[in-house]
Amino acid sequence: MSGRIPREFIDDLLVRVDIVDLIDSHVPLKKAGSSYVARCPFHSEKSPSFSVNRKKQFYHCFGCGAGGNAISFLMAFNHLDFVEAIEDLAGFVGIEVPREAVEYRQQKQDYSALYSILEQAAVFYVEQLRNNPEGVAAVEYLKRRGLSGDIAREFSLGYAPNEWDSLASRFEHKLLVDAGLLISKDDGGGYDRFRGRLMFPIRDKRKRIIGFGARVLDDSLPKYLNSPETSVFSKGRELYGLSELLEKDSKPKRILIVEGYMDVLALAQFGIFYSVAALGTATSKIHLDLLFRFTSEIIFCFDGDAAGKKAAWKAVQEAFPSLKDGRQVRIIFLPEGYDPDSLIREQGIAGFEEQIEGAEALSDYFFGYLSRDINLDTVEGQSALMSNARPYIEKIPAGFFREMMFGRLSGEGVGGALDISKKPAMLNESLIPRQMISKGKKSKASPVRIVVAHLLQSPQLIDVFEQRELDLSTMSFPGLDVLKDVLLAIEEIKPSSSAVLMEYFRGTANEKVVNTLINWDFFILSKGVEAEFLGAVDLMLLQAEESQLNELLTRERESGLDQEERKLLGKMLVKRI
Ligand code: GTP
Ligand code: MN
Repeated sequence: MSGRIPREFIDDLLVRVDIVDLIDSHVPLKKAGSSYVARCPFHSEKSPSFSVNRKKQFYHCFGCGAGGNAISFLMAFNHLDFVEAIEDLAGFVGIEVPREAVEYRQQKQDYSALYSILEQAAVFYVEQLRNNPEGVAAVEYLKRRGLSGDIAREFSLGYAPNEWDSLASRFEHKLLVDAGLLISKDDGGGYDRFRGRLMFPIRDKRKRIIGFGARVLDDSLPKYLNSPETSVFSKGRELYGLSELLEKDSKPKRILIVEGYMDVLALAQFGIFYSVAALGTATSKIHLDLLFRFTSEIIFCFDGDAAGKKAAWKAVQEAFPSLKDGRQVRIIFLPEGYDPDSLIREQGIAGFEEQIEGAEALSDYFFGYLSRDINLDTVEGQSALMSNARPYIEKIPAGFFREMMFGRLSGEGVGGALDISKKPAMLNESLIPRQMISKGKKSKASPVRIVVAHLLQSPQLIDVFEQRELDLSTMSFPGLDVLKDVLLAIEEIKPSSSAVLMEYFRGTANEKVVNTLINWDFFILSKGVEAEFLGAVDLMLLQAEESQLNELLTRERESGLDQEERKLLGKMLVKRI
């Protein structure tokens, strides 16, 4: 979607907005030296470690590591997606998202008719539950299942009469079809999809009704029917109960994922309002990323049977790529024969909370699952575990959690018979050494990263860099690609601030490293930034030469060099004498 908003407009927007004003209107800021500070809105803390920098036009929290430009702030603070954040930011500055974005707006307008018909259908179903004589059976059913009137109201439960045309006779056919409410027939007519069922409206995170779940009142099949996929409804992206949850608490401490509609309702009735259900599909990475926008802990709740175990392993695999630092996943397996609905009704909230407290950490579950048929007392067993586990752990984003999983993997072996600890040591480099730097331990920061960090923070340094007239195309060393990308970006967009540069990298492979390096703090000595920068460039070149020399020497020994390469090696060795 972002493609429909012209890049220049976004850059221009970032130039017009002052991030200090923007953030101050959400979180009151205090001036402290050259920056502005507040208590971080993204984690709870007593003393302020959230700082906003007017010159760089971005914010950073030294406590939790949150950081970004004005767009990132609105996305994080108001749980918006990229396009929504651009729209709000444009509103803040008082300008319109330009006409090139017409296609996007047009689509939105089309959808508004769909949202409206879905809302009207929901109102109709609610009214049928209350006033249609047939609805009495549905009310009875709800009572039998122990659901209160309050919960029925809160979740806008309704009833679809057992007729072919209760919607078809009231609303426009085409809209009903597009909304998934009408099944069309070849003769151009159509009939209601939902008949004689209890209706559960499904809302998106912005509270709009996008579809329905529908349950029979007896034992007939299928037990549940869901809306089909439509322009506004996609099962892989939406979760039942999320909107109602956010209404109560926009930043819940944890969110529980359960299997069924009825589970969400029963838990809410007993006071556990923070559960959601996938819509009869497996939980996807998209689901998890959506939930992690609102909470830092997700607890999966599975039935204790074989199907539940299978679903758990699948869910864990989906979860790995979403596990950035600070995000936690735990798993509950309910006793066999129970679902959350029946468990909480039988054991009350205390019994259910006990389950939550006892939820297994994802790492324990993961290693337990992979070792279940393996004898870890043998080297064969250990190596089997390692080769099975590794591909999964590699999917975890770089960070402490991933390191610890690797660390634990090597620890699961006895006496380090198989030492894979070298792998995590390498990964270490990608960790943010900000704190280490501020403690004077610069050794963790490689020269190329320092060079890139300076360029990101002071893009005008590109002139200094270009005066060195280096031929990067003949070089090869780790981190060179990022450097090249950053240089290209600066040449191409001539950014007026680091924030604009940061925006350029959003969604690219380098987004993460750019966001990290842009926040590095340097102790700039009296020599000034330029001297520091050039010092780092020299060091980088030295290291590059060193690694090239080593590479040539190794190849010389192993497979021999061609004439050109031998000449180069000779030159390099001579230089070192
Ligand atoms: P109750 O029997 O009313 O307690 O339902 P439940 O929520 O406990 O349902 P169950 O554990 O049987 O299934 C869990 C979820 O799977 C449901 O909430 C539905 O989303 C989905 N589901 C179950 N049965 C069907 C079905 O027949 N068709 C479809 N499409 N989905 C179903
Ligand atoms: Mn059930």
